Amino acid sequence: MSDTRLQIRDDRHDALSDSDFAVIHGFLSQTYWAGNIPAETQRRALEHSLCYRGYIDGALVAFARVVSDRATFAYLADVFVLPEQRGRGHARALVRAAMDDPRLQGLRRWHLVTRDMQTLYAGLGFEALSQPEYHMQRHDPDVYRRNDRNG
Ligand SMILES: CC(C)(COP(=O)(O)OP(=O)(O)OC[C@H]1O[C@@H](n2cnc3c(N)ncnc32)[C@H](O)[C@@H]1OP(=O)(O)O)[C@@H](O)C(=O)NCCC(=O)NCCS
Repeated sequence: MSDTRLQIRDDRHDALSDSDFAVIHGFLSQTYWAGNIPAETQRRALEHSLCYRGYIDGALVAFARVVSDRATFAYLADVFVLPEQRGRGHARALVRAAMDDPRLQGLRRWHLVTRDMQTLYAGLGFEALSQPEYHMQRHDPDVYRRNDRNG
């Protein structure tokens, strides 16, 4: 069941405020996938993504972003809901809003990476890679911490 109080906004409504950026960076910089991400890197990532923000009573409680050429491919990233607002369908509603964005229709592939939330995305039509051996990556999971240490 989705909580109808969630208001979803993106850049077509308004620009990201500094206080919302602080909530997003505060959360993501503590996650297993973006731990220690510098604020400047985070800001650049958001500036070059389609960002979807979920609000309850004017406060940002949920976030997701999409990196896309807006023609063929989209990568869904950085999905989160603040702990006190979980279990109410907000993540599902936010990801659905991204997938319904008119700028992201007719794509050949949506992609994402998740350690443990496969059920969330399975409910939205995502499935495990059918031929994982066809996919390759260059992955540098320690890049933020290393750059942090090196000043
Ligand atoms: C993952 C996260 C975004 C889910 O947010 P949420 O608003 O609670 O999720 P929803 O209420 O929309 O749940 C939708 C579906 O996702 C799945 N799901 C949600 N939380 C789950 C959990 N903790 N464990 C397993 N499945 C879960 C369920 O299938 C759920 O459907 P159901 O309620 O009908 O069973 C939230 O727990 C979170 O921010 N976690 C920390 C950050 C994170 O791990 N992000 C995902 C990175 S890929």
